[in-house]
Amino acid sequence: MNEVAIEHGDGRRFAIHPIWLRERCQDPQSIDLHTGQRLHDPSDLDLDLKLLAVSESTPGRLHVRFSDGHEAQFDAGEILAEAALAPGEFEVPPLTLWNGALTNLPRARWRPDPADAELAAWLGEFLSYGFIVFSGVPAEAGHVLEVAARFGFTRATNFGALFDVRSVPDAIDLAYTPVKLDPHTDNPYRSPVPGVQLLHCLANETTGGLSTLVDGFSVAEALRAKDPEAFGILTATPVRFRYRDRDTELVSSAPPIELDVGGRVRAIHFSPRLDYVPLLPPEELAAYYRARRVFDHLLREPEFEIRFLLDRGDLVMFDNVRLLHGRTGFNPAEGLRHLQGCYIDIDGPRSLYRVLRRRVAGQTRADT
Ligand code: OGA
Ligand code: ZN
Repeated sequence: MNEVAIEHGDGRRFAIHPIWLRERCQDPQSIDLHTGQRLHDPSDLDLDLKLLAVSESTPGRLHVRFSDGHEAQFDAGEILAEAALAPGEFEVPPLTLWNGALTNLPRARWRPDPADAELAAWLGEFLSYGFIVFSGVPAEAGHVLEVAARFGFTRATNFGALFDVRSVPDAIDLAYTPVKLDPHTDNPYRSPVPGVQLLHCLANETTGGLSTLVDGFSVAEALRAKDPEAFGILTATPVRFRYRDRDTELVSSAPPIELDVGGRVRAIHFSPRLDYVPLLPPEELAAYYRARRVFDHLLREPEFEIRFLLDRGDLVMFDNVRLLHGRTGFNPAEGLRHLQGCYIDIDGPRSLYRVLRRRVAGQTRADT
């Protein structure tokens, strides 16, 4: 045998390219065993590299001899996981797209020192739904940073490590007034945009000011199905977002719906307070404005939105490029509404989830 073949679910079957395997050799000539990093430059491998012999040394374990003289062992399960044909043991959970019918919100009672399995369960819900609501977070100023530190590194900005959301006179942002906020992603003018937002309620003495969330990926998929033309325009038009004050001038452009190379929705950049489309010929702009309206109206449909009261001691943590958030208006004469927020990057929770899964699996194995 001188090939390793792989079978895809869609019936495609092909031999794995020898360089693909050679790049993945795990022996001490190929990688540094301590860091796992490669010791050679794979671009220098012979482009005509061949497999001279493949044999199964033990079940599921392949021994491969390459034409450059190298020999290596491969685990069939690891090859499948690497080819994304089998779930990797420590992959993040798949997304659960949701809409306004979601009644069982991912919720947890906050504890500063959760056991690994509990923390992994919180992260699993967060990564799958794009958010989680904690109750019982001490309603003390600055505590949002302690919760954030459990999941990742705080992304400080020109607003500081955290920001206060309360209604004040002469507000510099509509968020700091009592008006309703339509679904938006925060800070689309940054590059990169904040991946995760935490909002912690220190006081809510008003009857309004309900928090709203929409799964932007779910709405984007609905738009793709219902109005492919609008979907296409919103994935291909770079929109400019800007923030400026005396010391800051942040500018970034992004399409409202950003796709990855496989055509899957990767991020939403949407803030009706801040979006400016470039000047395009009138017919192109007419098509863009129509598309934006269809998307925006879907985002504001009760069919897609959930609403809940963020009460004193509650904290919501959400994916800021997948979910859009907002709030209903409130009457500041009824009392104080005060939230504190901060940002972290999404890679923190993803990394922590994988590490915890690894640790929990290790413990289970050690117990049995
Ligand atoms: C914000 C915001 C939500 C709220 O400050 O950007 O969306 O509930 N606030 O006040
Ligand atoms: Zn916001």
